[in-house]
Amino acid sequence: MDLVHSVADLRRALGGGTRTALVPTMGNLHAGHLDLVRIARGQARRTVASIFVNRLQFAPHEDFERYPRTLARDCEQLAAAGCDIVFAPGEATLYPEPQVFKVAPPPELADILEGHFRPGFFVGVCTVVLKLFACVQPDVAVFGKKDYQQLMLLRAMVRQFALPIEVVAAETVRADDGLALSSRNAYLSAAERSQALALIAALRELAAAVRGGRHDIEALQAAALGDLRARGWLPDYLVVRRRSDLQPPTAAQLAAGKPLVALGAARLGTTRLIDNLEF
Ligand code: PAJ
Repeated sequence: MDLVHSVADLRRALGGGTRTALVPTMGNLHAGHLDLVRIARGQARRTVASIFVNRLQFAPHEDFERYPRTLARDCEQLAAAGCDIVFAPGEATLYPEPQVFKVAPPPELADILEGHFRPGFFVGVCTVVLKLFACVQPDVAVFGKKDYQQLMLLRAMVRQFALPIEVVAAETVRADDGLALSSRNAYLSAAERSQALALIAALRELAAAVRGGRHDIEALQAAALGDLRARGWLPDYLVVRRRSDLQPPTAAQLAAGKPLVALGAARLGTTRLIDNLEF
């Protein structure tokens, strides 16, 4: 496996016209990321994983500084997973000058849910992913459904800019007890880890209630928020949305059984967790 830090070395390592899949990450890899690599390997002759903690997608009060950076261990895991090239640029490589050109994603998708609670987040995500695409020039890019709204926005970006890249979605990988794997789980204390399932449990309850015939979504969502607060969480949102555009379903769509997704984000102590469930 090659580990490269500059775009010139990356281009040298890439050479030729081999079908290439890219797995963008911020490192501190877990089995969820490695599953994306497995899927990427099934899609292309060559797999590139990028590791870059993207300052542009963190607000000043967020965890950019304390985000775990574990390059050596990440490389061991990627090599064992059969990754061919790790692109781990420094900030001066990806942002040699202030990034004044940015992708402006559509507000109706980028300013709701995660984007409402993390203003500018998706501008940062779309901009760095476009830049990673420009560096690696992949034929395929693999993203996880764990970050459901991110996946939708990146798909839309690829479509709208006619990028010659196939976007492949990967299911969320969970711990044995059902907690979605996340680099941020490392922040949880033992006591918090034992509480952490309450988020996916709340989403499962929402989904079961709707599929059980309850269509008073606003009341269900408010009750779910109240339950999580009573357990000591600080929830940002717990909602049922249409899968197609993440907008609230109409009564007719609920009755017709349109594909839905329950999405949630909540803080447990100082750790912010997100999860979702298609139903
Ligand atoms: P990061 O949080 O490191 O996630 C990298 C990729 O792994 C994303 O596509 C994410 O959805 C996927 N992923 C994370 N946890 C997963 C799990 N439990 N199961 C399956 N896939 C999972 O998402 C980012 O980085 C950044 O925003 C990035 C796209 C790299 C841009 O900076």
